[in-house]
Amino acid sequence: PRLTPYVDELPVPPVLAGDRTIAMAESTHRFHRDLGLAKTWSYGGQPYLGPTIEARQGVPLSLTFGNGFTGGHLFAADVDPTLEGASELDRTQPRTSVHVHGAVTPPEADGHPENTFRPGGSMTYRHPNGQDAAHLWYHDHAMGITRLNAVAGLAGMYLLRDAYDTGAADNRLGLPSGEFEVPLTLADRRFQDDGSLNFRTTRAVPQGHWEGGTFGDLMTVNGVVSPYLKVARGFYRLRVLNASNARSYRLFFSNAMPFWVVGTDGGLLDTTARTTSVRLAPGERLDLVVDFGTLAAGDHVDLTNDQQESPEVVAATGVVPPADIMRFVGTGVRGFTGPPPVRLRGAAGLPAALPALPASGSVPRRIVTLTPAMSAGWPFAGMTLNNLRYDDGPVLAPRQGTAEVWEFVNTSSEAHPMHLHLVHMRILGRQRFDVAAYREANPRPAPGTMWTPSPDAHLLGSVLPPGVWEAGAKDTVGCPPGMVTRVLVRFPAAVDVGFDPDAPFTAMSGTRLQGYVWHCHILDHEDDCMMARYRVAG
Ligand code: C2O
Ligand code: CU
Repeated sequence: PRLTPYVDELPVPPVLAGDRTIAMAESTHRFHRDLGLAKTWSYGGQPYLGPTIEARQGVPLSLTFGNGFTGGHLFAADVDPTLEGASELDRTQPRTSVHVHGAVTPPEADGHPENTFRPGGSMTYRHPNGQDAAHLWYHDHAMGITRLNAVAGLAGMYLLRDAYDTGAADNRLGLPSGEFEVPLTLADRRFQDDGSLNFRTTRAVPQGHWEGGTFGDLMTVNGVVSPYLKVARGFYRLRVLNASNARSYRLFFSNAMPFWVVGTDGGLLDTTARTTSVRLAPGERLDLVVDFGTLAAGDHVDLTNDQQESPEVVAATGVVPPADIMRFVGTGVRGFTGPPPVRLRGAAGLPAALPALPASGSVPRRIVTLTPAMSAGWPFAGMTLNNLRYDDGPVLAPRQGTAEVWEFVNTSSEAHPMHLHLVHMRILGRQRFDVAAYREANPRPAPGTMWTPSPDAHLLGSVLPPGVWEAGAKDTVGCPPGMVTRVLVRFPAAVDVGFDPDAPFTAMSGTRLQGYVWHCHILDHEDDCMMARYRVAG
């Protein structure tokens, strides 16, 4: 449907604090004034998505989630039972698993994709919250149906506060708070004419078969199509999450005004960075400060996107990237008068600075390949990591208390946002390489055989530093095609985090599991083999 943007007000989800039981159930929601009521899924009785969970550093939080999807899957006809982990039973008794993305949490509380439960079942997750204040989020992670569960509505924000970033007006950082701190969950969606969600994207693929990437033609923010928000004259802190399945954004304001980045996935930057645009891949978050001080009553400025998809994606889906994200309309009322802080860490009264990056070559490196499908067109096989499917060994086992440089060698033709559970990363840089020469010098074996050749002989040009919007602690990192993306990863020891990250545990199904997963955060890719296990060996 064609819809007029900026006619619905931005909803702000309620905040939950303290130990809770949260129901996951069917709900109904109107995504736009001119759309009919849609059946949805949600957490905690919301019309769509979930409440914002607020936690405090050092205060453990126990969250119990109950699976109430007794009526079957919202997208029953879209379940692909041939994917690893999925089955016919997911149509009528869909599995769930709740992962807090970016949380430093014990393996049994991490929402492991194999640790799922069906309707009538529930699970309690105990999160220690030992890490710095950060903008985390929670979402479903059931293996093989994550992409469906997320579009249905299983995602929400999890804001971790600490003594500095308290979220209150007296915070020592001088950040806008209260009504001037606004969570924005971005997700592109597609609708049927009656207003219900349409999971399907690629017309050439029969329903019930994995499509390779779910793209919407309309933008939703907090579950509403291109909403507006009334803003006072002053500064706002925007906590932006890209909860889209597959779409990346380049965000900027319609008047090209500058704004400030204060934090990334894992918490605050050392110093505020000024910019006029940012990029955001699926799974990534941004902590921004924006000045609406010049907006007179009734004036507006729009947040827009001009990130293009590859011609292949546009041709296969017929979907043009949505440009209209949301509108900010001035009320003329005086609001939070800054100025935005400059120094955020590493000075008296502020959190400690981010650890310095080691000299290059001083840390052992691990080469990881992002490998394209063996066949193009449809039906095509999913992409893999290191040329291995989820169930092919060996499981990577970095050691506790060590650092490694991971080099993501992207030999495919699209970007992949790579996410490691448990840890935080720093981006060291990106460098182009000659993919054709690399592949010719290192023929790829049959799938199932590990393939991680060094890219060194094929590197081109110089190392590009990370963007200012990704220069802090990261748990999800964009890896562009034809590039080597280098990140520093520190794997915590049990003494650092207060739990053994290598402790085996028993899943609800009775299987013994150990460790965490790492994967591409394009949920469609994650659902078809672009995911692997790893452990942090003690
Ligand atoms: Cu947000 Cu394993 O994911
Ligand atoms: Cu991917």
